[in-house]
Amino acid sequence: MTRNALQFIRSGRRVRIDQFAPRATLLDWLRLEERSTGTKEGCAEGDCGACAVVVARERDGRLVHESVNSCITLLGQIDGAELITIEDLAENGALHPVQEAMARLHGSQCGFCTPGIVMSLFAHYQSCGGQTSRDSINDALAGNLCRCTGYRPIVDSALEVCKTGADDQFTRKAAARLQALRALDDKADVFIGDETSFFAAPASEQSLAQLYLKHPDATIVAGATDVGLWITKKLTPLEKVIQVGRVAELAAIEESPVGFEFGAIVSLARAAPVLGAIDPDMAEVMRRFGSIQVRAAGTVGGNIANGSPIGDLAPMLIALNATLELRRGDQVRELPLENFFLDYGKQDRQPGEYVRRLLVPKLASSSHFRAYKITKRFDEDISAVLAALCLKVDGGRVRDARVAFGGMAGIPRRAKTVEEKMRGLSLADARGWQAVADAVGKDFTPLTDLRASAGYRSRVAGNLIIKALAEIAGVSPQVTRVADRRMLAHAAE
Ligand SMILES: Cc1cc2nc3c(=O)[nH]c(=O)nc-3n(C[C@H](O)[C@H](O)[C@H](O)COP(=O)(O)OP(=O)(O)OC[C@H]3O[C@@H](n4cnc5c(N)ncnc54)[C@H](O)[C@@H]3O)c2cc1C
Ligand code: FES
Ligand code: FES
Repeated sequence: MTRNALQFIRSGRRVRIDQFAPRATLLDWLRLEERSTGTKEGCAEGDCGACAVVVARERDGRLVHESVNSCITLLGQIDGAELITIEDLAENGALHPVQEAMARLHGSQCGFCTPGIVMSLFAHYQSCGGQTSRDSINDALAGNLCRCTGYRPIVDSALEVCKTGADDQFTRKAAARLQALRALDDKADVFIGDETSFFAAPASEQSLAQLYLKHPDATIVAGATDVGLWITKKLTPLEKVIQVGRVAELAAIEESPVGFEFGAIVSLARAAPVLGAIDPDMAEVMRRFGSIQVRAAGTVGGNIANGSPIGDLAPMLIALNATLELRRGDQVRELPLENFFLDYGKQDRQPGEYVRRLLVPKLASSSHFRAYKITKRFDEDISAVLAALCLKVDGGRVRDARVAFGGMAGIPRRAKTVEEKMRGLSLADARGWQAVADAVGKDFTPLTDLRASAGYRSRVAGNLIIKALAEIAGVSPQVTRVADRRMLAHAAE
């Protein structure tokens, strides 16, 4: 069955749209078509949160509210969801509790950031179940920039209003809202346009595989946290869009005795706790991956398929020896993740072939994992260097090592000379460690760019190797780190 219109819930009503440009963004639709101008445009690249809106969907039988950046969300991505904007919060002229607290505690000055901040806090209010903290609010607001108020009154407002469970018009209408969402779920393939220009959102993997085989020149869109910027910054004229967000077969996370399987469209937000359970360093990198809005929309598959040399997942998963599954038509193939990245901007992917699944092995008990994300800014910053190490240790010596870096070459890549020098290395004798760290210079000739100089990258990469060896040898993270989850975990022991 094919449907030739989008459908979503807006202010309690079902909206159907059958004509729009495949590349239309949600923000443009809100401001230019619906004329709901409460949602603002700041950066138009997912960084400031001025355009944040909330998307509600059913997940595991309950309503989930997520804040997303509408400037880099395609209009077509909200098919099947409920869209909530700042205009929807007040009820009969009375401010929503989040708005009321922000106004009373002086959380707004010029007000330009305020709708986005209120929407991110509204999502937190709906999802935290009264279990909030200054830290979790800081994480919830990492993608919302306020230039003039300062965050203290904003966080104070959030603390006050979120400490009790949500109680508002949205919770009171939850059952009806859930029912309205279920009624939208017709399992039909969406195809709007014609053979030369279309927005498609297949509902099954078979439909996706066939459609992409027929249109290998189409652009696959998952969370659009990369593709959205092609539209807003490069003004790329996307004519054929295949949005993969409705393919249920690609949305599962499955655990087996040996590892975890992530469907390509699993969001970074859903993947984070599963990856974080493998190792606390992975949890910390995921906490600092973009912002809550970027993690809600961005996907595991998108982070690999984009082939970015500075993507955060690839080095960590290469160190863990993950496998990638690709599909073209009816053909499925697997390859070690590290072999997917051929050269800058070039991946081992055929026309019409898409990323299907990632298979991530569990960490053996004799293995030690470390990952370090080096950025200029703590929150919402892309890595200058990301180091990931997985060392098998036995009898105080490194028996095997997989060491991978992002930001050191045109692709995420293993440091094979470093690995070679690590084998047999004594953890009890630090004198051999510097030679291992220096081997980074044999593996990589990094570039200088806006994020870091080549010299800085090489130096920090070597230092991270020494830091990992020191920690695995037994030096407390309280000495080696400023603040992170491993340190907190260590302090709690
Ligand atoms: C503000 C901001 C902060 C960010 N911070 C980080 C960060 O900290 N770390 C980091 O690594 N990245 C970061 N990113 C980049 C981006 O969010 C991630 O790379 C994200 O995982 C991309 O996933 P997506 O689903 O949004 O991909 P999309 O934008 O939908 O797609 C990205 C690319 O992959 C292709 N693609 C997507 N899915 C598939 C598939 N299943 N098969 C084949 N091709 C596919 C698309 O065609 C496109 O070429 C940030 C981006 C923004 C805007
Ligand atoms: S306008 Fe800045 S994140 Fe969208
Ligand atoms: S109140 Fe002015 S930017 Fe936040």
